[in-house]
Amino acid sequence: MKNKLYDALNDSDARSQIEFDVQSTFENIGIADAKELTLWVFEQLDSCRELSDIEKIIFEEFSKKRNGINLSVIDCLNKALKGRAEIIFGQVKADMLDSGGKALDYGAGDGQVTQMLSNAGIDIIGVDVKHYPAEGVNKELLLAYDGDHVPYADETFDTILATNVFHHEADNQTCLDECYRLLKKGGTIVIIETVPEEDVQAEWNRTFFNDWFYNRPFHPGAEVPVPGTYEMPNGWKKRFEGMGFRVIDEEDYGIDIPVIQDRHYKFKLQKI
Ligand SMILES: C[S@@+](CC[C@H](N)C(=O)[O-])C[C@H]1O[C@@H](n2cnc3c(N)ncnc32)[C@H](O)[C@@H]1O
Repeated sequence: MKNKLYDALNDSDARSQIEFDVQSTFENIGIADAKELTLWVFEQLDSCRELSDIEKIIFEEFSKKRNGINLSVIDCLNKALKGRAEIIFGQVKADMLDSGGKALDYGAGDGQVTQMLSNAGIDIIGVDVKHYPAEGVNKELLLAYDGDHVPYADETFDTILATNVFHHEADNQTCLDECYRLLKKGGTIVIIETVPEEDVQAEWNRTFFNDWFYNRPFHPGAEVPVPGTYEMPNGWKKRFEGMGFRVIDEEDYGIDIPVIQDRHYKFKLQKI
């Protein structure tokens, strides 16, 4: 992770863009000293300290109340991200209702989207390697497992959802194989992934930096893996088709969650 992060920081084209992204985020979430704080973040990154120390130092600064607003950077970002689950729900609801039957939310995270789909009448269960239900989420809807074998028989599910999961796994083919195993023949899987804006090195580096920035210093205790296993949309399609899925729909949402500069792309696949 450290090497990829420093590749991004040492790439001058990526660097100017990521400095701009960080400052825009601070401005958009209401931080008055956005420019100074951005300079401070990059000073920490350019120091020769261990990455884990840098993540901790940034987290401590982001946990402090800011002058004039009595909120920390983390409070402001969480407030700005309140609508994230609703946005994802809106993007997948029709596909999930359309497919019907028994559904699995693979890598369900805090379960907010799982809960919304359940409220919409979908018979759904979420699985994740971690168990951290958000407030208001029925804990029974979420099941933690060991990351190797989801404890359901082959072809149990009519529909699978996986939003922003695969690029958090170094060996994401194993996860895809597991989803393939769990899905019934003719069943549907809906995937949303973070993809680089363009197939140029600076954009791959930018995607990695933003992934690191929003997943690591904001909650260092969670130790979210950021292996950088992205693909361009065509790369994913080739892999899905090679496994025996048919791509039945795709949609490029661009940067759909304004405070975070991530491009999201949806695939709807059918197991042949
Ligand atoms: C960025 S979060 C996305 C959570 C949720 N899908 C959402 O969009 O809000 C990625 C989630 O994938 C989970 N994850 C990573 N590897 C996994 C695996 N092999 N099986 C299931 N979940 C996994 C992580 O624990 C994390 O909760």
